[in-house]
Amino acid sequence: MFKWALWHEKGDAVKDILSPNGRVKCVFELKNSQISYHVYRDEKLIIKPSRLGFMICGEEPLTNGLKLVRSQTKKHEEIIEMPWGEDRYINNNYNEMAFYLAENKEEKRIFTIRFRVFDDGVAFRYEIPPQPKFQRITIKDELTEFNVDQNSIAWQIPAYQPDRYEYNYEKCSVFEITGSVHTPLTMHTPTGYYLSIHEAALYNYGSMTIRINSSNVLQSDITPLSDGTKAHLLLPFLSPWRLIMVADSAIGLTTNRVMYALNDPPAGDFSWVKTLKFIGIWWAMFVGEWTWAPGERHGATTEHALQYIDAAVRLGISGLLIEGWNDGWEGNWLENGINNKFTTTTEDFNMEKVARYARDNNIEIVGHHETVGFVDNYENQLEAAYNYYVLNGIHYIKSGYAGNMMTINGRKEYHHSQLGVNHYQKTVELAARKRICLDIHEPIKGTGIERTWPNILTREGARGQEYEGGALSPSHACNLPYTRLLAGGMDYTNGILDITNSVKRMATTVTRQLAYFVTIYSGMTMAADRPFIYEEKFKDLYKFIKDVPTNFEKTVPLAGEIGEYYIVARKDRDGDDWYVGGVTSETPRRVLINLDFLDEGVFLAEIYCDSNDAHFRGNPFGHQISSKHVGRGESLDIYMAPGGGFAIRLSKQK
Ligand code: NOJ
Ligand code: CA
Repeated sequence: MFKWALWHEKGDAVKDILSPNGRVKCVFELKNSQISYHVYRDEKLIIKPSRLGFMICGEEPLTNGLKLVRSQTKKHEEIIEMPWGEDRYINNNYNEMAFYLAENKEEKRIFTIRFRVFDDGVAFRYEIPPQPKFQRITIKDELTEFNVDQNSIAWQIPAYQPDRYEYNYEKCSVFEITGSVHTPLTMHTPTGYYLSIHEAALYNYGSMTIRINSSNVLQSDITPLSDGTKAHLLLPFLSPWRLIMVADSAIGLTTNRVMYALNDPPAGDFSWVKTLKFIGIWWAMFVGEWTWAPGERHGATTEHALQYIDAAVRLGISGLLIEGWNDGWEGNWLENGINNKFTTTTEDFNMEKVARYARDNNIEIVGHHETVGFVDNYENQLEAAYNYYVLNGIHYIKSGYAGNMMTINGRKEYHHSQLGVNHYQKTVELAARKRICLDIHEPIKGTGIERTWPNILTREGARGQEYEGGALSPSHACNLPYTRLLAGGMDYTNGILDITNSVKRMATTVTRQLAYFVTIYSGMTMAADRPFIYEEKFKDLYKFIKDVPTNFEKTVPLAGEIGEYYIVARKDRDGDDWYVGGVTSETPRRVLINLDFLDEGVFLAEIYCDSNDAHFRGNPFGHQISSKHVGRGESLDIYMAPGGGFAIRLSKQK
């Protein structure tokens, strides 16, 4: 992988790397033996000169005293086919330049920085080969800067907090950012561009958060290990890609796929992976009807499971999540998670019987593993736990890591530290070997590795609808497409139609719950309410939940502004139909949806939208269902109530 030309003397260097269409330019500079980069969009500086390099424990920093040994350019053009997701095809077109650097001081250590410049982003990574006196290193700090205009507006959630990624986005100026914040970090520059800083292909390293450094510049802050260092590495080291997504508009940012392009092709045959829609023995626990723990109101009993399987069949939905079936939920499960057993059931749950009944009825069980962050306990059982599911014909797992910290090797570690990252990866790779698909709750953020490991069908990893009942405002789902969802799909636990439930009062209208199936992509998508709500109360609305697919051919973002609204159209991967979803903040909106994205022909539009008097507070059930024939060149005039939203199915007429 590492080819080294003979080292020879060179002085300062400035190298331009242009994107294929020339609109993005990245400049790498070696000046006074120090390295930096900066980025232009249409000749406007969007990232000012920014430092690169590392602080390494017990060693000189790897950032200055450098010479350019040689540089190497490459042009790459490729169309990638994704096995499932929002778009079947994504472009991987870039110009690459690799800079082979060597120290001009005593040690003469060598490393490479590789840049890839896309029409909609810039990415670079560090590559450190093993060298005679440089084999095992410990990263003290990564010095990568992202020198954006301090007056840019940022949408951020804080890092190193007890609830991990599960926070509401806050809008502020970059100079107002305090502490470290998570990526994707989305920003609007004073020159009118939209940027999002993120990373791709995060393996064996701490997750990158971002903070303002002492020079008042945004800098990478790698999630530390409990020993205070950032990562222990055996060289060679290929760092995760540092990624700056670039767009002219907020809505244009939402389909940025550079993160996936930066990841490797699938690590084997994943033709067995199938996206899934499922119901769950789940929301009944949130609204206080059932409990996870055994007892009178235990949710995961054999009887309930069989009833839910029957309901899934009647509802035409393919999967069923069952939480609380295993030993370990008694008492305060958040504190007692160390006792969780993943191969033994509570007395009132017969796994073999439930699994057999599910198989006989063609229903996929989504097995559950709540680790409560006790990784040692989980890893001790991991192989047996997966085998137990496989033996019972279960090929989907929702895993969870509730709790502030993980326990790894007996120590408290951040979920997003190098050790946490490695744990998640272990589960992904073992699951792939066992042909298990994953939906990871309290995960490590998505960095596009599902291109390589397509069995990661989704993650929760953001504040989801479990926070309804007071902690979710209508703007949250209008922030997600521009922020968190740039990191991949999310299990938002959609479709909760019992809006006025006294325990969990939803801050949405009822048709907005349908919109989520389109606006929030997820390879495993939950219709989260209890089956009787769909079967008895909202049969007409449920039709959309049943119809909407979980795998799309193409995604066309239509309109939106961060935190305000978002409208998107997606075409079914396995058919000719299109689906449109839209959500708004507390501000009502009338939108004209231009149907030019449609293919030729006549389509039947089934429209589920807010009534004119709907309101997420006063009248959340106010809605209208209508249908009409439409085609390209026409448009639909749709009203979104405060906290509302709509869903449309456009089915091609033969
Ligand atoms: C906390 C999660 O947020 C929730 O979704 C899950 O059901 C419980 N843990 C139990 O695993
Ligand atoms: Ca959670």
